Amino acid sequence: MNATKVNTQTGKIILAPMEGVVDATMRHLISRLGGVDLCVTEFIRITGYVLPEKEFLKSAPELATQGRTAAGIPVVIQLLGSEPELLAMNAERAAQMGAPAIDLNFGCPSKTVNKHRGGAVLLDEPDIIHDIVRAVRQAVPANIPVTAKMRLGNLDKSLAIDNALAIQEAGANSLAVHARTKVEGYKPPAHWEWIGRIKERVDLPVVANGEVWNCEDYQRCRELSGCDDVMIGRGLIARPELGLMIKSFQLGQSSEGEAWSKIILLLLEYFDFVEQKLPPKYVHGRIKQWLHMMRPQRGEAEKLFFEVKTINDLNDLRSILEREL
Ligand SMILES: Cc1cc2nc3c(=O)[nH]c(=O)nc-3n(C[C@H](O)[C@H](O)[C@H](O)COP(=O)(O)O)c2cc1C
Repeated sequence: MNATKVNTQTGKIILAPMEGVVDATMRHLISRLGGVDLCVTEFIRITGYVLPEKEFLKSAPELATQGRTAAGIPVVIQLLGSEPELLAMNAERAAQMGAPAIDLNFGCPSKTVNKHRGGAVLLDEPDIIHDIVRAVRQAVPANIPVTAKMRLGNLDKSLAIDNALAIQEAGANSLAVHARTKVEGYKPPAHWEWIGRIKERVDLPVVANGEVWNCEDYQRCRELSGCDDVMIGRGLIARPELGLMIKSFQLGQSSEGEAWSKIILLLLEYFDFVEQKLPPKYVHGRIKQWLHMMRPQRGEAEKLFFEVKTINDLNDLRSILEREL
């Protein structure tokens, strides 16, 4: 496919939903750094009943603050399930609680989720996808967007366009496409040109997603997909300031990114939040997880990760991090 001309001075950056990684603390810290226009919660799995408000608040405490992070960035509530009516009732509740938008997950590759006919396996059945989006769209007030996030397919890409058309016909307000099938997992490359093919066939805003790690990836992704808006997951965890770097890049300015000491301060703040939230035995794992995810983009993280890998004592771990300041 030919590269499409895009105006890279516009376009939203969306922090991708990431179960077990992008929780409210992460959304708070990354949105406060800047450069991110929208966040999405980790998927909230809907099985069998309408969740009580406290369950929604667990995944999305931002619902208590007009559905926004402290930095004022809206947080979309993502639901995952396979029963249209049940999803619709849950979406209605989230909307009543102040969700700025509802997103539907059609991409999760988890075996447990897929076994219960949720996530990426639904991409084999465009009719069900259509019914889910339509039921949710009808249940949620018209002023609250209903969006969908899909992969290119389950086992192959043969239904990619059919799924996108089903989502459009059912009334979705926008569609994010992770440019890989379920079986392609997270293995590079992401097929950005496939997002372009979808975009040519539908008439709703399409958000490009997958494998954007730096400003050059961002530009190439936009050119090949033809999309204005880009959703970034691992790239923003590896480089929390990537949104800011891209915004500078859009203005024609180059940015080196944050100093390592500033990233360590962020990690120490994360440490404090995690300690308040989780039992002590789980805290070191979350800190190491973030550091591990920074490794592809920062040599300093690579070195530090190996140093702390076997340290489970929280005081020792904190001292090692503080030494980097
Ligand atoms: C650990 C992890 C958890 C994820 N959880 C979700 C999720 O809850 N909902 C969802 O729609 N996608 C989820 N994804 C997929 C991401 O949103 C995104 O589509 C994928 O990582 C590709 O984008 P990236 O290359 O920018 O990371 C997850 C991905 C990872 C790596």
